[in-house]
Amino acid sequence: MNPFSLFFYLSILVAFVDGKSISHDWTVSFSQRAPLALNKQVIVINDQFPGPLLNATTNDVLNINIHNNLTEPFLMTWNGLQMRRNSWQDGVQETNCPILPGQNWTYSFQVKDQIGSFFYFPSLLVQKAAGGYGPIRVNNREVIPIPFLKPDGDIDVLIGDWYDADHRDLRAALDDGAGLGKPNGILINGLGPNQTIFEFEPGATYRLRISNVGLKTSLNFRIQDHLMLLVETEGSYTVQQSYTSLDIHVGQSYSVLVTAKNQSGGRSYYMVASSRLTDAELFGVGVIRYPDSVDLPSGPLPLGPELHDYFFSIEQARSIRWNLTAGAARPNPQGSYHYGTIDVSRTIVLQNGEIDINRHLYTVNGVSFVHSGIPLKMADYFRLDASNTGIVPDRPIDSGIWTLGTSVINANYREFYHLVFENPSPSLQTWHLDGYNFFVVGMDFGTSSWEEDMKATYNLNDAVSRSTVEVYPFGWTAVMVMLDNQGLWNLRSQDVEKWYLGQELYLRVRSIGEEDPSTIPVRDEVPIPENAILCGRITGG
Ligand SMILES: *[C@@H]1O[C@H](CO)[C@@H](O)[C@H](O)[C@H]1NC(C)=O
Ligand SMILES: *[C@@H]1O[C@H](CO)[C@@H](O)[C@H](O)[C@H]1NC(C)=O
Ligand SMILES: *[C@@H]1O[C@H](CO)[C@@H](O)[C@H](O)[C@H]1NC(C)=O
Ligand SMILES: *[C@@H]1O[C@H](CO)[C@@H](O)[C@H](O)[C@H]1NC(C)=O
Ligand SMILES: *[C@@H]1O[C@H](CO)[C@@H](O)[C@H](O)[C@H]1NC(C)=O
Ligand SMILES: *[C@@H]1O[C@H](CO)[C@@H](O)[C@H](O)[C@H]1NC(C)=O
Repeated sequence: MNPFSLFFYLSILVAFVDGKSISHDWTVSFSQRAPLALNKQVIVINDQFPGPLLNATTNDVLNINIHNNLTEPFLMTWNGLQMRRNSWQDGVQETNCPILPGQNWTYSFQVKDQIGSFFYFPSLLVQKAAGGYGPIRVNNREVIPIPFLKPDGDIDVLIGDWYDADHRDLRAALDDGAGLGKPNGILINGLGPNQTIFEFEPGATYRLRISNVGLKTSLNFRIQDHLMLLVETEGSYTVQQSYTSLDIHVGQSYSVLVTAKNQSGGRSYYMVASSRLTDAELFGVGVIRYPDSVDLPSGPLPLGPELHDYFFSIEQARSIRWNLTAGAARPNPQGSYHYGTIDVSRTIVLQNGEIDINRHLYTVNGVSFVHSGIPLKMADYFRLDASNTGIVPDRPIDSGIWTLGTSVINANYREFYHLVFENPSPSLQTWHLDGYNFFVVGMDFGTSSWEEDMKATYNLNDAVSRSTVEVYPFGWTAVMVMLDNQGLWNLRSQDVEKWYLGQELYLRVRSIGEEDPSTIPVRDEVPIPENAILCGRITGG
């Protein structure tokens, strides 16, 4: 062991003392279920769909031993958890070799300096279409107050589109260039319309932790005759504002406070998650019951915004602000970090595109992502040549020119990046960065080509900090991010169709002084796990 890794190993041990250790044994299996009308093979965890709640407190160490009882390779990723300096645990194709059928592997990481609501899901082979997802809560430490009265209960609400087709058939459709087509419905906590029941006590206040765990459909979430007070967005406390309905795009998570009525009249209420900005309107419906409620609520479902009202959606997104005086994972207020005053080190404009060769593929700045055969993180570590590695250009290239490659952006630790996502297509895009939250400083639609002078519209004061952001059709979204987390981090479209067919890349964040991109950025990272699964050409150090 070299002195550097010994130092970091010790500092990690010290840091670990401050949280508790939580261990889980999860078996991931196929099980016949019919969330909608049709039976299909659903991925269950310990026989549950959705999977069990991962409930932690800031700085806890999680050890999750995953037994793969599927007939396919498997990786779990932790959407929104930052895995500080530990991309070895991120569970995506270029950071980990898969857990093969019949094998198990223990993810081990700390939820350092984080709070909030997130979810986990299988990252390989379109398996998310079969489920395998579940909720994550990272609670405040006792010594750090939450910026609202302690709710009477927390309720996880996972909403998402659902396809009756087997995930292997959906995968084959993508491989054949056919696309996923339209979903068959919307699930709430793994169940179809009117099947999910939530029990409210009169007068109680609940924190609903809502995530869109679907494949591609944006959803509008609302509750009949109940307002929602928005308090948190993927680990940042927001300025608390009331909404009658909330647009939640694929991969996004929100916490809202909902106060139950002080009623004894026996009414129950609809909870609705309906598709947005799509051709067909689909409805996920849950039921909120009170102690003496009758079976089903009455009246029409509560109305959401008009199906294609983009204006509503973007105005709402812009209204969500960071609460500068709230403390989150640490005692100091969130806004003590003035992102708006930091000089930008580099601006990267990433434009999504599509190409038709012998099949339909999706690109970012002309590069459609392909797996290099061995995880890039492993190739870096073992100094193997990952032959397809391609550097993504910092600006879009002329349409019509494209390549296939294992796309990487080489970045220096502690630099401050300005990323602009351009979406010149008619479908909504959502982008997610593992290992980080970014400040969403601006977004617009009407023109997908971002210009320098659009910086004048940026929110450099209280923009919300999150890990998944939408980009409207024919629009752009700008984010700023402090690269304070070394590792190899996945930047992906959360739309599984676009992700699977090439819209992702990796940010390789290494310490200054390690200029050679092929140098292992291991110095300041958590060491490679002793139990790391090896695959392909890697035979061990
Ligand atoms: C493994 O999966 C099979 C179905 O594919 C199931 O019958 C069995 O109970 C699972 N084993 C465990 C330990 O969950
Ligand atoms: C989650 O963890 C917190 C902190 O340890 C605990 O207070 C709470 O009861 C747990 N919730 C569940 C549902 O396990
Ligand atoms: C596999 O599971 C067993 C216990 O079920 C555990 O002892 C072992 O460490 C696990 N292997 C890995 C690589 O996590
Ligand atoms: C922001 O957080 C502070 C501190 O916790 C809290 O008192 C205040 O109500 C919050 N402000 C808004 C507008 O949500
Ligand atoms: C759920 O309830 C609503 C209102 O009663 C009804 O319109 C709808 O058909 C129900 N859905 C199903 C699948 O039963
Ligand atoms: C709820 O309503 C009952 C009956 O009207 C009343 O006695 C009670 O004080 C109310 N509770 C709250 C918390 O408002």
